Amino acid sequence: MKVAIVGGTGAFGRALAKRLGDVGDDEVVIGSRDEERAQTTASELGVTGGLNEKIVGDVDLVVLAVKSNATLQTATELAAAIGTTPVLCVASDLRFNDEGVLPGRHQGSLAEEVARIVRAPVASGLQSFAAANLLEGDPGDALVCGHDDRAKELALDLAGRITSRAIDVGPLENSRALEGMTAVILNVNKRYRAHAGIRLTGLP
Ligand SMILES: NC(=O)c1ccc[n+]([C@@H]2O[C@H](COP(=O)([O-])OP(=O)(O)OC[C@H]3O[C@@H](n4cnc5c(N)ncnc54)[C@H](OP(=O)(O)O)[C@@H]3O)[C@@H](O)[C@H]2O)c1
Repeated sequence: MKVAIVGGTGAFGRALAKRLGDVGDDEVVIGSRDEERAQTTASELGVTGGLNEKIVGDVDLVVLAVKSNATLQTATELAAAIGTTPVLCVASDLRFNDEGVLPGRHQGSLAEEVARIVRAPVASGLQSFAAANLLEGDPGDALVCGHDDRAKELALDLAGRITSRAIDVGPLENSRALEGMTAVILNVNKRYRAHAGIRLTGLP
């Protein structure tokens, strides 16, 4: 599979590119708003790199991995370049206050908004994959949701290469739960000084 990671210079994108590169089955290209930064990071990771808008053409799956609060603007800016190529949104909408981390919204999810912006089919998942666990160790179960079978299959396929279990958790609206769960995980990480992931029980 050929995978473009938009925002691939960041903590998550770098870790995902490194992990996929170590497995070696996929062709990985990382993107940035700055071509030189993309190429420098790419050469460190042993992949290729370029401007976000240049890397999303001619791939099987686009992973939208820019800083969360830039997700919607980036989706808007790249919509034409992405066209109908399936997108995996890994973002969570979060709020931070003195008590800790909270879900960022009362209804909907970032992924559903991305799906309204781009023409492409959108899956959502991997929110529980801490970058640190991707770089070293076990990221846990990959939970992926979406309406479009092709986008979801590609996302599950990608996730299955880098962790032992990738699980289809239903339609895209369930991204509300996946994004909200990120707040839970971040509070756990802070409280227990950990890099927690998720493991579902009771599956065959
Ligand atoms: N970190 C994790 O452990 C983790 C785990 C699961 C999911 N995620 C999700 O993965 C995504 C990336 O997280 P991250 O921790 O890697 O974020 P990050 O390091 O803060 O940012 C990722 C990249 O986003 C780009 N960026 C920053 N501001 C931007 C803007 N205004 N417009 C467009 N691009 C911008 C930057 O790339 P350039 O400056 O090179 O363009 C940056 O390297 C988020 O949606 C997050 O929720 C993260």
